[in-house]
Amino acid sequence: MANSLKVAVIGAGVAGLTAARELQRESHQVVVFEKSHRLGGTWVYDPQTESDLLGIDPNRDVVHGSLYKSLRTNLPRQLMSFTDFKFGEKLYDDPHINPGHEEVLKFLEDFASHFKLRELIRFSTVVTRVEVVESAVTAFVVESETSGSSSIEVFDAVVVCNGHNTEPQLATDIPGIETWSKKQMHSHNYRDSEPFRDQIVVIIGSGPSAIDISKEIAAVAKEVHMSSRSTRFKVAKSENFNNMWQHSKINCIKKDGTVIFEDGFSLEADIICHCTGYKLYYPFLKTNGIVTIEDKRVGPLYKHVFPPQLAPNLSFIGIPEESFTFCIIECQARWIAQALSHKVLLPSKDEMLIDVEEYYQEMKEKRVPEHKTHYIGFQTSYIEWMFDQTGMVLEKPLKDMFEYFNQCLMSAGVDGYMDAFSHKYPV
Ligand SMILES: Cc1cc2nc3c(=O)[nH]c(=O)nc-3n(C[C@H](O)[C@H](O)[C@H](O)COP(=O)(O)OP(=O)(O)OC[C@H]3O[C@@H](n4cnc5c(N)ncnc54)[C@H](O)[C@@H]3O)c2cc1C
Ligand SMILES: *[C@@H]1O[C@H](CO)[C@@H](O)[C@H](O)[C@H]1NC(C)=O
Repeated sequence: MANSLKVAVIGAGVAGLTAARELQRESHQVVVFEKSHRLGGTWVYDPQTESDLLGIDPNRDVVHGSLYKSLRTNLPRQLMSFTDFKFGEKLYDDPHINPGHEEVLKFLEDFASHFKLRELIRFSTVVTRVEVVESAVTAFVVESETSGSSSIEVFDAVVVCNGHNTEPQLATDIPGIETWSKKQMHSHNYRDSEPFRDQIVVIIGSGPSAIDISKEIAAVAKEVHMSSRSTRFKVAKSENFNNMWQHSKINCIKKDGTVIFEDGFSLEADIICHCTGYKLYYPFLKTNGIVTIEDKRVGPLYKHVFPPQLAPNLSFIGIPEESFTFCIIECQARWIAQALSHKVLLPSKDEMLIDVEEYYQEMKEKRVPEHKTHYIGFQTSYIEWMFDQTGMVLEKPLKDMFEYFNQCLMSAGVDGYMDAFSHKYPV
């Protein structure tokens, strides 16, 4: 039976656009709130940086985007596709397997035009409050602001798609770092390597941003020293650069500015760049404690999507980290849309809560830290499960492609996986 609801979607990035599309397909009435004047979220390159380069000051003017100028995708374009709207088949100005960010934005704009999503979006409208109101039926008050005036509306359901690459997570557990007087920044505010010319730079982190940014900086800096908390790394000079070293964690920072690593090495650095990821951040969300956010864990969330107590009316898209984001976002969005129209039946509230508890328990047993709650990695079982919820299957050719990507990553490493992948799957 069709069940058409009034649904608010917060954000018009990949997640919000995909949600709008799937909700529309299920005949829900959709309003997408987007604080920017354009769609695309992360994929809109913004040359501006924040006044506070560490992003600590709560009163700073927040820049949403975290892209740097030279960024190319770290996934092959074929794996940044929707099932029936494929990036691999759409070539614009940059037909590389790993195109620059402009190309991804073009693809998303094309996606929005093709499925007539623009008319659902209220641009330059920021959501300031989403509050659960419990009366006869549970509903959501959504307060938003556009050009200085605010308005309040009530919705049956809310899909949260505000992104999670904006609020810097810093390496704050380093003794002495708060009082260090030289320059510090977070990769959120990195745009190009020019400010690092002839500098001695310490880069904290070992994720994709740390790797990309350090290589770019090494071309102009005097020295680049990477520091990682991962025990995989030992002090080592980079093979490809004669001015780059890999170190363990920073042990402490002295008052005179000396940075001392756990491996005993010490140096006087000019800049520390934190490539330490982002916090999950939902400043507008008021759920009376039904949903909590702690150390990168939003909980409880059934399969990283629904808070059991408010399911299916409140949902989150795109929380899983370091994964095949576009595909995951698409199947989550379809699941949500069909759960809202009662095509898909969710387990009971208690069953969902138990599922989350079991998941947390399993994490504990495997000694997975809490901040990895939504870390899914490049596996396909989550995607397959998600497809199955709406009666779809992850087609074999696509599944093979995902799995082959994984193999390439493991065998060819960060410098070689893209080439390795493109030998078998050229654009
Ligand atoms: C540096 C970097 C590189 C990446 N590279 C890749 C890659 O190569 N391949 C890949 O697949 N993924 C990559 N990603 C992951 C990327 O985050 C996803 O591809 C995708 O953009 C996530 O989309 P989203 O819709 O969840 O969030 P976003 O794209 O961040 O969109 C969120 C939207 O919500 C809006 N918004 C936020 N708060 C409010 C509010 N209160 N009211 C109204 N609107 C609001 C924002 O303006 C924004 O438009 C990368 C991420 C980063 C940071
Ligand atoms: C979800 O919203 C619908 C429509 O307003 C309502 O009938 C239902 O009770 C709500 N469910 C929950 C769990 O709040």
